[in-house]
Amino acid sequence: MDRIRVRGGAALKGEIAISGSKNASLPLMVATLLTDQSLVLHNVPRLADIDTMIALLEQHGTHVSASPGENGHRRGTTLTLTTRDIDSTTAPYDIVRKMRASVLVLGPLVARCGEARVSLPGGCAIGTRPVDLHIAGLQAMGATIELDGGYMIARAKDGLRGVRYVFPKVSVGATENLLMAAVLAKGETILDNAAREPEIGDLANCLVAMGARISGIGSETLRIEGVDALRPAEHVVIPDRIETGTYAMAVAMTGGDVELVHGRVELLEAAADTLRQCGVECVATARGMRVSRRDGVLRGVDAMTEPFPGFPTDLQAQFMSLMTRAEGAAMITETIFENRFMHVPELSRMGANITIHGTSALVRGVPKLRGAEVMATDLRASVSLAIAALAAEGDTTLHRVYHLDRGYERLEEKLAACGADVERLMGR
Ligand code: EPZ
Repeated sequence: MDRIRVRGGAALKGEIAISGSKNASLPLMVATLLTDQSLVLHNVPRLADIDTMIALLEQHGTHVSASPGENGHRRGTTLTLTTRDIDSTTAPYDIVRKMRASVLVLGPLVARCGEARVSLPGGCAIGTRPVDLHIAGLQAMGATIELDGGYMIARAKDGLRGVRYVFPKVSVGATENLLMAAVLAKGETILDNAAREPEIGDLANCLVAMGARISGIGSETLRIEGVDALRPAEHVVIPDRIETGTYAMAVAMTGGDVELVHGRVELLEAAADTLRQCGVECVATARGMRVSRRDGVLRGVDAMTEPFPGFPTDLQAQFMSLMTRAEGAAMITETIFENRFMHVPELSRMGANITIHGTSALVRGVPKLRGAEVMATDLRASVSLAIAALAAEGDTTLHRVYHLDRGYERLEEKLAACGADVERLMGR
């Protein structure tokens, strides 16, 4: 397995190109299942999770082609997806267990074929992550769903029907699933207390380009008037706000000065505001966003994760890394996932001073971190260790790099281009 070695100390300087959003691309790709017409997606990042989604869609019957070599990427960032016929309505355990976003095929398959058999994803490294809201919403739209042998078996022989569904809890994935299902349902669907993450707006805009009738995009109430069929469409995926925020924290950690090209500060206002309170400059530029330390000082500031537009849970670990070196203390509270502090013991091994009190972590800044051999159990926890390593004394070796490869495109190349001493050590 590959490892990444980082020698801390260098301030990041220069520019980093932000890729297309992983969490927008995954549901956008699934939207192909709603139609026999082609869907062209530009700016799709080349990541392990995208490859997993391609494998899932191919076994449902989607033809996927990737244009080669755009933007210096080996395999290109434009995907053309065409699902003339659905060959299989089963999403098998072997793929779903690798990537939870696979459950997004449930709504579109039932909407198009009247049936779907999707493996339950099970728990994961950041929490139990149930799918009850996906199920309840589809049942409200007239599907029957039974659980058998670890699979959700959904049927709606006469099609789904429009309904008003109020999410009892904000869920990104359940909103995406029901939004896609509603596009082909009979009549009007109203989704209330819907998640407002920019990735949902991106999906809705693409669905509209495909011929869907959706209003309230960007708000907590989505109104969808069902249509009989969709048309071919082309769509450019939004830049990855979590990748943007991650590099912003890395730059802040090293006291550097970097322009995050394509980064959009308005997609991460809550995190940018928190960074500003810490003493980090985050300003929009003509090409993206520039991040630098205002006066050299990094102050400890509290943060609490919340659904968008609040501080994103997907930046919690990275922010905690940053706070390990701040002046003063920071209380970081996680309200979305119950088990998302798995990076804490590893940061502690690097010399961080962190104590966990229930859903909060109290981080007291320390004058220095020390390099160590570390590993993490999920994507954002892994990258938080890379951020710590950039400011640590000596070498850090990150193990289980496959987590990073799920969500960060060419991380070591992007960091090295800004002066970081980082290299990938190929498999052993
Ligand atoms: C999406 O996951 C993202 N994944 C996650 O990013 C992100 O952390 C999360 O949203 C929150 O922003 C993708 O977009 C592919 P949720 P999702 O449904 O949709 C509970 C990353 O690192 N819940 O909004 O699975 C759930 O347990 C990943 O890129 C239910 O109780 O998240 C959690 O506590 C990790 N029942 C909360 O809601 C349900 O049916 C929010 O989860 C569904 C969710």
